[in-house]
Amino acid sequence: MTLAPPPAPIPPATRIPTTPALADDLAAALRDDDAAALDRLADRHPADVRDRIRVLLQIYALHTEPLERVGSAARHQHRPVLAQLKQRCENAWLKELESLALPADVAHATTADETVAAMRSLAARDRLPEVYKWLARRASWDDVVRFLALEGGPDAGFDDLVAACQIGLTGAPKMELATNYWDEMGNGSPDDVHTTLHDRLVAAIGMPEVAVDEQPTTALARTAFCGLLATNRWLQPEMLGALGLIELQAGPRCRLVLQAFDRCGAPAAAYPFYEIHADVDPRHGKDWLDKAIVPTVTSHPEWGPRIVRGAVWRSAVNAAFLDEVTELLGAVSAPSRGTAAA
Ligand SMILES: [Fe+2]
Ligand SMILES: [Fe+2]
Repeated sequence: MTLAPPPAPIPPATRIPTTPALADDLAAALRDDDAAALDRLADRHPADVRDRIRVLLQIYALHTEPLERVGSAARHQHRPVLAQLKQRCENAWLKELESLALPADVAHATTADETVAAMRSLAARDRLPEVYKWLARRASWDDVVRFLALEGGPDAGFDDLVAACQIGLTGAPKMELATNYWDEMGNGSPDDVHTTLHDRLVAAIGMPEVAVDEQPTTALARTAFCGLLATNRWLQPEMLGALGLIELQAGPRCRLVLQAFDRCGAPAAAYPFYEIHADVDPRHGKDWLDKAIVPTVTSHPEWGPRIVRGAVWRSAVNAAFLDEVTELLGAVSAPSRGTAAA
C-alpha cells in the first residue's frame, strides 16, 4: 500500500475554544518575566478544569522542562505565588483522584504479593483499549498519525520520570529503576535512545506537533499527571505504581500500533520506537513488579496501598484520554467499557 501524504493539522472543528483565564494571565506574566504580575495572581483560582490543568502544565514546565524551552522564567520555579497556585490546583485535583473508587479486587491489597496481584489485575483490566484495535484494523493512515501525535508514545518523557522516581530509593528498587533508565538510554548507544527513536518516528511519518490549545483536556491532564507525580516527593509511592502500570500495559498496545504500520505501509524509520517497546516493556513491567515493588512493599508495607492507588489514578487518567480521543477521531462510538477505577 502506498503512503498517503502527511495529514493536515487537527481540523478547526476539534479545537477547544479558550477564554481568558488564570492560565493565560500566568503565561503572560512568565513570558514578560513580570514578577509583580505574577504576585498579583496570588488570590486567583482557575476558571475550570481545563484552566487548572493549563496552569499546572506551566508550573510543571518550570520544574522539569529543558531550560532552553522554559527560558529565564525558570527563575520563578519556587516563587511563593507559584507554590501557592500549584498547591491550590493540585489539592483540587488530588481530591478528585482520591475519590476514585478502587475496583473491589485491588482495594485491600496490603502485602507485597497482594500489591503485585492488584497491579496485574489493573493492567489486565484494560490491556487492549478499543482505539488501539481500531488503529490495527481500520483506521486510515491520517488517523493513525493523528492518534500518535496526541498519544506521544507509550512512555513520553519516561526517562526523566524514572530518574525522578528513583530519588531516595536504595538497594534492588534503585537498581531496577537504573536498569530501566539505561534501557531508555539505549543501553549506552546514542542511536537507540528512546527519545531519539521517537524523534525519528516523528520525522518519518510527518507527525504534527499538536498545540496545547488544540489538545483535548484529557490529553493535557495525562501529561500534567506526570508533573504532579514528579514534583511532589510525598507522591513517590503513587508514582512507583503509576510508572509500573505504564510498563505493564505498553507492550500489547505497541504491538497493535505495529500492526497499523504494517497495514498502512508505514516507512521503515517509523518502526523501531514501537518495536523496542513492544519487545522490552513486558520485561520492564515484570521486573518493575518483582525487583522494585516487591522489595519496597516488603520493607515499607504502608507503600502497598499507595502504589496500587497510583496505578488506579494513572489508569483512570489514561482511560479518560483514550475515551475522548476515541470520540474525537470517530474511532468507535463512545466507550462503554468503563475505566479501571469504575
Ligand atoms: Fe521507552
Ligand atoms: Fe519500558
